[in-house]
Amino acid sequence: MADILSTLLEDHADMARRIEIIEQQFRECRRSGQADFGAVKSVLNYLLNYYNVVHHPKEDVIVRHLRRVDPCAADRFADLDEEHERLSARTREFAGGVFFLIDEATVPPPWVAQWAMSVFGAQRHHARREEELLFPAAQDAFGARDWELIDREIEATMTRPGYKR
Ligand SMILES: [Fe+2]
Ligand SMILES: [Fe+2]
Repeated sequence: MADILSTLLEDHADMARRIEIIEQQFRECRRSGQADFGAVKSVLNYLLNYYNVVHHPKEDVIVRHLRRVDPCAADRFADLDEEHERLSARTREFAGGVFFLIDEATVPPPWVAQWAMSVFGAQRHHARREEELLFPAAQDAFGARDWELIDREIEATMTRPGYKR
């Protein structure tokens, strides 16, 4: 498997663990009225930064390259970059709400846990779609030269002056 796909899969596993930390704290909050909101805040900040700045752009490069190599296969993922934008917006909105409650020292009401389930359910669904469909399609379509070009494009994207998604 290409290094980049291994890294993306590790990111997904890492994201799943971090999401679980947040959900666990909301469960604890429901149970006892208390939780480690400092941990919730730092996980949300991490998710917002890492996935927007590092993870999603790599996947966008893969889809763009797939469009050049196998346009038919790429058609199925034409909406992936928009989905990244939507997921980021939903996570930002959720984090904003949770940060507000934490800063006001308000115990998040139960509907916040439902909100978390909906936002993170969408994240999990998205990651599954990539693991089951996008990564295998890339694996089938790309040879060593393609992965080299992808690495270079990712490097160029991330070192572009002023790069920040
Ligand atoms: Fe993605
Ligand atoms: Fe992903």
